[in-house]
Amino acid sequence: MISPSRYLVTSALPYANGPLHVGHLAGAYLPADAFVRFLRLSGKDVVYIGGSDEHGAAIKIKALREGTSPQAIVDKYHAMIKEAFSQIGISFDIYHRTSEQIHHETSQDFFRTLNDKGAFTELETEQYYDEEAKQFLADRFIMGTCPRCQHTEAYGDQCENCGSTLSPTELIDPRSTISGETPVLRKTKHWYLPLENHETWLRSYITNGVVEGKEHHYPEEWKKHVVGQCKSWLDAGLQPRAITRDLDWGVDVPQDIEGSEGKKLYVWMDAPIGYISATKAWAKEHKKDWELYWRDEETALVHFIGKDNIVFHCLIFPVILKSYGGYNLPVNVPANQFVNLEGEKVSTSKGWAVWIHEYLKDFPGREDELRYYGFKIMPELKDSDFTWKGFQDAINNELVNNLGNFIHRVLVLTNKYYNGVVPVFDESISISAPQEAGSPTWHDSELLDLFDKLHEYRSHIKAYDFRSALKSLMELSTTGNQLLQYNEPWKFEKTDPDLVKVVMNLSLQYVAALSVALRPFLPFTSDKIQEMLALPVIKEKGEFMDQMDALSEGKHLIAAGHKIKKAQHLFSRIDDEEIKAQIEKLNGGTKDKDAHAVNGIKEVSSFEDFAKLDLRTGTITAAEKVEKADKLLKLTVDLGFEERTVVSGIAGSYDPATVVGQDIVLVANLAPRKIRGVVSQGMILLAEDKDGKLGFVAAPKGWTKGDVVR
Ligand code: 2FM
Ligand code: ZN
Repeated sequence: MISPSRYLVTSALPYANGPLHVGHLAGAYLPADAFVRFLRLSGKDVVYIGGSDEHGAAIKIKALREGTSPQAIVDKYHAMIKEAFSQIGISFDIYHRTSEQIHHETSQDFFRTLNDKGAFTELETEQYYDEEAKQFLADRFIMGTCPRCQHTEAYGDQCENCGSTLSPTELIDPRSTISGETPVLRKTKHWYLPLENHETWLRSYITNGVVEGKEHHYPEEWKKHVVGQCKSWLDAGLQPRAITRDLDWGVDVPQDIEGSEGKKLYVWMDAPIGYISATKAWAKEHKKDWELYWRDEETALVHFIGKDNIVFHCLIFPVILKSYGGYNLPVNVPANQFVNLEGEKVSTSKGWAVWIHEYLKDFPGREDELRYYGFKIMPELKDSDFTWKGFQDAINNELVNNLGNFIHRVLVLTNKYYNGVVPVFDESISISAPQEAGSPTWHDSELLDLFDKLHEYRSHIKAYDFRSALKSLMELSTTGNQLLQYNEPWKFEKTDPDLVKVVMNLSLQYVAALSVALRPFLPFTSDKIQEMLALPVIKEKGEFMDQMDALSEGKHLIAAGHKIKKAQHLFSRIDDEEIKAQIEKLNGGTKDKDAHAVNGIKEVSSFEDFAKLDLRTGTITAAEKVEKADKLLKLTVDLGFEERTVVSGIAGSYDPATVVGQDIVLVANLAPRKIRGVVSQGMILLAEDKDGKLGFVAAPKGWTKGDVVR
């Protein structure tokens, strides 16, 4: 399939258990969106599938934590995620959900068909059971100490501290996250996908792109880290993978199959099938044939995902598709790596994330700015870092100073000199061009350069190299700015108007080209430029190819005599205050409440974590202000058995004189910290009201000092 005419493109279905953050966006959604918009602009038939992944233990756990039902959780987050995608311009043809009936039916059909074909094995194993909650515990419902790094909060399937993949029985001191009790091992029967039987063809599929003599893809087009990860799984030897679970939330194993009682499909069995059920729902609504997009050999299947999903999309889902029969296998799985935030791993539970819905509130009308920076830091080959300073610099230096400035100048000058009418020019006039001066046919050769640059841009997109593609367009804008700079229309308009007409006409061709080519990256900006140029609304139906055809035939993209509208600014500077506010928000605990808390209650902490704190009663015996720090007091605290110096941020609520004699509770085993030159040996517990007023937490009057608080 050298140049497929039809594409089925998917982005990983996000779990509907939390809002969307920038890491998600730059990982699996922005690249897919640019890819599909580009394909549509190239006249291809594309269906772009998205949707919420609404099953699995993660949803159940979130519901338990929030004291609500899994359905309430998925309803809430599905709506929120869908809205965020729509606002940031991710152009799904459908945003579906795996709780829909059509999805349950499609997944059950897969299960039944594979079961009938003997594609599964059934195995009885011992799994952890919570006798108090009376249920088997899926991997995520068991926590314990990691056997590799001794982290005490490792999950049954993975330790997030050292990244090891684990199985529940490997955990030291396992405990149920539902009841906190130590679980017991009980026998249970499950269906397994015997991946080990598929090793030979999978290896050929991954490394040569060939399965049973048929070419599915060109391996050199796959990212090295994707192939590398698959190979290491293959080299380690594939294992049978359980595809059912003892759970009460998910797709039922078809009830007429023996032993199905209480069994649900494993979320990674049903989630990728979600792409198919979404396509069916889309096809039904648009009176199309869904099978054409999944079973016809002319259709290319492309999955955009994050690196943690590679094995599921490159090995397990292909096994499911091939076992069913008659389905295409992915031609590419351009997985991205991860985006860190200010040098640290994104952590939704710690609130260390840039939430899309919050960004949209804080930066209204600046959707493309976030998209731009998302592409700029896209972790195509290695992990990258989102920094607010980097965001500010990219917007101010690149979007405002380069792209916005070029387009604005061209439109302002066209309106000023020609009353907005694209000028006719004399083709024999030579202008100074950025590359090399002196050719008598500057206008034509500059148009040829434009064609070459757009060609380069297209090659980058085809190679899934979105950062480079966007860079090519920014270089076009730089060239445009140089054209103006070298020829100085503002200087020569009076003395050499014919030369200025060439410069302005050419600049307008650049702007027209950018209005289309930028669209996969900056769709809102594309609309605005198109509107200012008074060109038709872009429908993403072959417009890019039309421009390439025109350029290759030496035609212009915007005709002389066409009247444009007034210039408007496309971008505005992000000032230091805005960035400061975002950094404070990150550090200052105004974390997203939807992400990790209900009514301000933080995520559940383990008893073990709480028990690590040594809290003691004490009394303040001396207090003074800390120099050059409005909010801090330096206190002496008597614990009965020793005295401590403690720096506390209470100066806004208390004068030093009024706190002497106050009983307090001290966190007595916090690591000492130097604050404004004073070593603070602990932390005083304080209550804070909604206005930020602080009050002491203390044991009853007359209590002895140094007692344990627990
Ligand atoms: O990792 C995740 O967030 C999964 N919910 C992705 C699923 S992708 C697909 F298979 F649906
Ligand atoms: Zn570990």
